[in-house]
Amino acid sequence: MKIVIANDHAAVELKHEITAYVRELGHEAVNMGTDSHESCNYPEYGEKAARAVAAGEADCGILICGTGVGISIAANKVKGIRAAVCSDPVTARLVKEHNNANMIAFGARIVGSETAKAIVEAYLNARFLGGRHQTRVDLIGKIEENR
Ligand code: RB5
Repeated sequence: MKIVIANDHAAVELKHEITAYVRELGHEAVNMGTDSHESCNYPEYGEKAARAVAAGEADCGILICGTGVGISIAANKVKGIRAAVCSDPVTARLVKEHNNANMIAFGARIVGSETAKAIVEAYLNARFLGGRHQTRVDLIGKIEENR
């Protein structure tokens, strides 16, 4: 899969670790985050990665900031994006199986690198289950259509 990875200044090291891990798992990783520790604005990076996923230029995305929250809120403003903050591998699996999340987010100040890798692996190995979950995902899309 082609996976975009975006981050702010709080997550530069973890981004590099996760990028290497994604490649180890056999995927293509595209860096859309900052490589600098200078304070920056996470919405710019979240939006860039989200637009790439929404446009079909990538299969999914990984977002990392201090908490994972700010960058996911920004990404979720892009039409078609379902970005989910995950702090554990079970949630990471379920956001794919049930919510068809096309981006996951986590916090470099919240999870350690081993947990972050387990989150990424669980998410990338999971498949959307469809059925009743498709109905619910469609209803989320309808909310978007009406705004
Ligand atoms: C940056 O200090 C921090 O606010 C950001 O990385 C993130 O945690 C926001 O949600």
